[in-house]
Parts: sequence; C-alpha cells; structure tokens
Amino acid sequence: MTQDEMKKAVAQAALDRILPHLEDDMILGIGTGSTANFFIDALAEHKLRFDGAVASSEASAQRLQAHGIPVYDANSVSRLPFYVDGADEFDPHFNLIKGGGAALTREKIVAALSGEFICIVDSSKKVDVLGNFPLPVEVIPMARSYVARELVKLGGDPEYREGVTTDNGNVILDVYNLSITDPKAFEQQLNMITGVVTNGIFGHRGADVVLMGTPEGVQTLNKA
Ligand code: A5P
Repeated sequence: MTQDEMKKAVAQAALDRILPHLEDDMILGIGTGSTANFFIDALAEHKLRFDGAVASSEASAQRLQAHGIPVYDANSVSRLPFYVDGADEFDPHFNLIKGGGAALTREKIVAALSGEFICIVDSSKKVDVLGNFPLPVEVIPMARSYVARELVKLGGDPEYREGVTTDNGNVILDVYNLSITDPKAFEQQLNMITGVVTNGIFGHRGADVVLMGTPEGVQTLNKA
C-alpha cells in the first residue's frame, strides 16, 4: 500500500466514524494538508447531510467550496462537533506537531472550537517523543530575528521558511533539533516569546482520537 493509499483509507475511516452523527444543521471543522484533502473529497459525496464547514486554511476553504460545501467564518459558530485533520507527528499521549503546511494557527483555533478532534495520519507520523519533525512557529514578521535568537537560547535551530506567508500574513520559523519531552510546558513557554503568534505543538488541545493508516489497514489508537 502506498502512503497516499494509507491516507485515503484513513480519511475514509474518519468519514465512516462521523457519518452516523451528521445532522442537517451541523457544521464540521476541517483541516489542512494532503490527508485532509482526501477527507474533503470523500466528505463531498455526503454534502447534503450537513450544513457546512469551518476550514483551517484558505486552501481547504477553496477545496470545500469547489465541492459546493458552504464555508463559515469561525466567528459565526460557537462549537464544532467534529474536527478532522492530519498531523506531522503524534506521540503516545496524542500530543501533536502540526503546521507543516503553515496552517497551525487557524488549526489551533478550529481545534479549540471542536468537540472531538479526529486526527488522521499514516504510520510514518508515529513517534515516542515529538521533535524529529522541525517544529513550525508562526511569527509576526518584524519579530522574526528576535524570536529566532530566543529559540536558539531554548536549544533549537530555527530556520526561516523562505517564500512562505501564512494566511494571517505572518512568517514561519521551523525549529530543528528539538526533543520535546514535556510538550504542554514547551508549548506554553514558546508562546510566551514576544512576537510568536503560536507554535505547532498541539498539547493543551491535542487529538481525542487518532486513526492511523498502516499497510495492514486502519487502526484506531488509544491514548496512553
Ligand atoms: C498543516 O499546516 C499541517 O498541520 C498538516 O495537518 C500536516 O502537515 C499534515 O499534512 P499531511 O496530511 O499532508 O501529511
């Protein structure tokens, strides 16, 4: 099974999980990335069974709209029963690294609004300790160099993601060589740096369910 086939299978598994719960007036939280794209495409076949979606990026909003699925501003909803999104890494406690697609801040907002966060991944994303994947940090442009120096003090090697502007008009620093043994504390510490909008650790609001695609099929994992 190819990685894309695993992503497609796990997207279908997420759809199967939420289908019995869909209601006419329901608005879903929808993530960003290649796995989320498979989910959007599968969801589109059932678009008459729910109201619409809040998207975690302009790219996902456009994909949803291209399928004829209404996209709502996050300010117009108070709660999203489900949020389906991928991740760059997940640990046994379902702490995540996200933001490989630069959508981390909007993803955190959608996650904060959601009831059940269903994380859809292939088995390459599973780690014991977060940090092998460079940690994305969204930064206000004028603070880029200052924040980079602060990240070095915390033991990381930040690299400016050249040519990328987030949907919020900011820049991304990817932080290499971290071993994130206490994700919740480190998430908070990074967010205290002036100029940081947010960072890609999803610890305080991690996943509730992880569906993992493997060559043998999709596994529903239990949190440690
Ligand atoms: C987007 O900013 C990310 O958080 C994605 O959710 C993450 O990069 C996973 O993407 P893939 O599904 O493409 O691996």
